[in-house]
Amino acid sequence: MTLTIKPTRATLGAIITGVDLAKLDDATWTDIERAFHTYAVLIFPAQHLDDAAQIAFGRRFGNIEHLVADREIVPISNQRADGTLLQDHEYGMQIMRGNEGWHTDSSYMRLAAKASVLSAHVVPSTGGETEWADMRAAYDALDELTRARIANLAAYHSLRYSQSRIGHDAAVGSSYGFHNDAPPLRPLVKVHPVTGRKSLFIGRHAYGIPGLTPEESEKLLDDLVTFACQPPRTYTHAWKPGDVVVWDNRCVLHRARPFDHRDPRVMRHTRIAGEPATELAIAS
Ligand SMILES: [Fe+2]
Repeated sequence: MTLTIKPTRATLGAIITGVDLAKLDDATWTDIERAFHTYAVLIFPAQHLDDAAQIAFGRRFGNIEHLVADREIVPISNQRADGTLLQDHEYGMQIMRGNEGWHTDSSYMRLAAKASVLSAHVVPSTGGETEWADMRAAYDALDELTRARIANLAAYHSLRYSQSRIGHDAAVGSSYGFHNDAPPLRPLVKVHPVTGRKSLFIGRHAYGIPGLTPEESEKLLDDLVTFACQPPRTYTHAWKPGDVVVWDNRCVLHRARPFDHRDPRVMRHTRIAGEPATELAIAS
């Protein structure tokens, strides 16, 4: 098999074929890792990985983050194990609805995520795509005035904040991310630890920029997301069962697109922890 890397027409993303991720050799991994740093989102169609193979692929990127104790892969689904579907008011659906806002994974934890692997198992008849936005290209496209304004700003990140904005008042300790620790503070401009490129580090979990009023902070952060998440910086993937995607949480935002909740959508997710040297909050 020959590894083929086909960039999308957006500023991020590439479709990779000619590799079986379940039998990844070191030389091919080196090419994939290089592509990961270049394109930030890699789409591998029709891989059909089982859990063990997805976890092994995730481990290539670093330490796995445990969203559930002792679990290295978790379902993201509106379908229970017994086949019945969640109702819209249920907790899991509130989390999935939150995922429809632009975000980066685990920015609300003290150690933010490096990467996320997502695989499709059952897809709805329409909708349910995932969309990514390139925060490197977004930073590059900012005008000088905005760049100067945000150069030394930081924001707190909280899942309780972002869920409360969609009307979901989750109890402390109810699941991953709803902790009672002080929220982590992160600069709005992040330097990528490998490429050195600057990017916007924003998204729905960010709030409360020190030095600004809550209203000023919310407006600035919302305006930045609106500006950043526009073509040619966005790419949308319509899933087919078996597809696997990995993205770089350090420099892209992502969101799920809505779908008809009478259809099942079953995805499986592995999250890779950031490096303490570069993804730890500057304060909390
Ligand atoms: Fe996410």
